[in-house]
Amino acid sequence: MSAPRKVTLINGDGIGPEVMEATVRVLEAAKCPLTYEHQDAGSEFVSKYGTNLPDATVEACLRSGVGLKGPTGTTIGGGMQSANVQLRKRLDLYASLRPVRSVPGVKTRYENVDLVVVRENTEDLYAGLEHIVVPGVVESLKIITEVASTRICRFAFEYAKKHGRKKVSAVHKANIMKLSDGLFLDCFRKVARDYPGLVAEEVIVDNLCMQLVRNPEKYDVLVMENLYGDIVSDLCAGLVGGLGVVPGANIGASTAVFEAVHGTAPDIAGKGLANPTALLLSAVLMLDHLGLSEHARRVEGALLRVYAEGKVKTKDLGGNATTAEFTQAIISALG
Ligand code: NAI
Repeated sequence: MSAPRKVTLINGDGIGPEVMEATVRVLEAAKCPLTYEHQDAGSEFVSKYGTNLPDATVEACLRSGVGLKGPTGTTIGGGMQSANVQLRKRLDLYASLRPVRSVPGVKTRYENVDLVVVRENTEDLYAGLEHIVVPGVVESLKIITEVASTRICRFAFEYAKKHGRKKVSAVHKANIMKLSDGLFLDCFRKVARDYPGLVAEEVIVDNLCMQLVRNPEKYDVLVMENLYGDIVSDLCAGLVGGLGVVPGANIGASTAVFEAVHGTAPDIAGKGLANPTALLLSAVLMLDHLGLSEHARRVEGALLRVYAEGKVKTKDLGGNATTAEFTQAIISALG
């Protein structure tokens, strides 16, 4: 048997420590061959380190190659750049991956959603290139490059091939942004030629949003630039019950950080009420990434059985179980 893999754990702020503890309890009960190293990040650590992302945390992720991260708080408007954005930049986590699947027992308008949003993480309007031209006029630059567009499209096709998916859809607005989104589409078309076994289609972002809320079942893997990805990935989470039940990952060439996409939930932090599902599903993605598919299916199966039974639910989903009770139910369902 190969040696256990080390994972860098970043609890984050608010409910972060609670959902992390629950997740690690399940991973340990499922005997996942992992060891853990805790590191800090988040707004609650600024007074201790003078920064929300200490160098030691970044270095630990680089060393282990795999991070599991809880939510970190961000100040709106001024203040420091969010720890998430910094981490993505410093580790060059260029691909954001968000698989979105209907969860049995979580009632929504749709039953068979099973799609994956792949979002480019490093450029577009998020390049942070804004300036005041004259008072009252601000210019914000949208950067799209051939290198980053090709890299994310190839990531999407590779993911589709590896996971037995059938179709990759490029989401764009090239009818209006002819040069920038036009370049993205050109890259998509070139990469698509290398994957004749997969259907490649193109869809304009506004039409996609309308189609998604009418008929999400018709989509498979979606690939897009940063801003569209930010919005569409939350829309897709809403199709299956919200940010509490979808996992997330930010992946680079040599390092990947798996994280719950919900926030720090300051209103319930420290009360033992947080739902650990999103972080646990992110940990399942991590297990798959590490080639620990059997463990991934075991943990995922236990979680889905608890949902399907519907007896033990946390408050956000209409139940009255505490984080600890919900975690225990999953551990019992591991069999
Ligand atoms: P939020 O996701 O923290 O909370 C929105 C609502 O959802 C609240 O009622 C909260 O109690 C509930 N909620 C969220 N996660 C839950 C969970 N696991 N179990 C049960 N209920 C849950 O969003 P909000 O209030 O906009 O943001 C709070 C802070 O989180 C901000 O500082 C924001 O910047 C940060 N944030 C961090 C993210 C990250 O690190 N990935 C993502 C989104 C927000």
